[in-house]
Amino acid sequence: TKSGSNIRADILEKVNAFYIQELYKNKFAYDYLKQRGINDSTIEKFALGYAPDSMKQFQFFKNANLNINELKALGVLSENGEYPRLIERITFPIFSASGKIIAMGGRTITNHPAKYINFTNTKIFNKSKTFYGLNFAREHILRKKEAIIVEGYMDVIMLHQAGYNTAIATLGTALTPDHLPQLQKLGAKILLSYDSDSAGINAALKASKLLFRSFFEGGVILFPEGLDPADVVKSGNDLNEYFKNQIPFLEFIIEYTIKKYDIKNPLQKKQALDELKEYIFTLPEILQESFVNKAAQYLQISPKLLLIRRSNQPQATG
Ligand code: UTP
Ligand code: MN
Ligand code: MN
Ligand code: MN
Ligand code: MN
Repeated sequence: TKSGSNIRADILEKVNAFYIQELYKNKFAYDYLKQRGINDSTIEKFALGYAPDSMKQFQFFKNANLNINELKALGVLSENGEYPRLIERITFPIFSASGKIIAMGGRTITNHPAKYINFTNTKIFNKSKTFYGLNFAREHILRKKEAIIVEGYMDVIMLHQAGYNTAIATLGTALTPDHLPQLQKLGAKILLSYDSDSAGINAALKASKLLFRSFFEGGVILFPEGLDPADVVKSGNDLNEYFKNQIPFLEFIIEYTIKKYDIKNPLQKKQALDELKEYIFTLPEILQESFVNKAAQYLQISPKLLLIRRSNQPQATG
């Protein structure tokens, strides 16, 4: 085989086919998906399944003649080979951009404290470069020149079901510079549609900073407090109401950085200023000006104050 990689990815297709069978054999698992608002064609499209108990899985691996070492190398089994990584969980196959299964994630339906578990990185899966749903979304993103980035599996699935077919998700990680080459290739505007809770807003702030600095167009979509896209689809509310209100990255970064402080208090105003300045100095020069002008407007200060490296130093004149 080429370049020493003799990993057989078709094994994952076999394991996933088994998990799909198990979904229909275990009514409570299928009912769980129904109760989340997922319909049959969506279950089929995303190839959702159910990983049963460990013993059943090992029986299948044996009957299907699957090799334990290969199952370990692909992430199906734990490092020591003693147990399947996903046990008594709904399974979400993770596809490569070309539609091959490269890993899986699983959600507990038995109240296990780890709500979601993903396969660890393997020779064919690098979670910090992979977008869940991209295989389905790619053509739509290219056509509409717009991609919606969400937090998780359920958000992607529910948005696609509701007709928002450009939704993709990072896999249990924040958006990092490693994700950017893929996004740059798509040449699309980015809409961040994270959970409207404090974790989601902080993640949106970080992602906005990264995207704005990297010259991406786009903005942030907010939902009513505490809800994520999957919740909003399930609620039956019109998503367009929310997607109409896009807060451009530039404004979102400024507004939500300032929001952390009580700027009527001079000390806190200085802290807000310092936090903005820290970001301004990471910006390419060409982006600095628009950012500085907008931030000065928000804070009702002179733009000059945002360009001084240390605010407690006397201002250089000249
Ligand atoms: P969330 O914590 O927002 O999921 O994680 P949720 O909306 O509560 O989940 P549901 O709707 O009840 O099913 C969003 C994403 O973060 C990753 C998963 O990819 C998940 O889809 N995640 C979350 C993990 O990897 N591990 C976790 O323990 C939790
Ligand atoms: Mn949660
Ligand atoms: Mn969340
Ligand atoms: Mn969520
Ligand atoms: Mn959710």
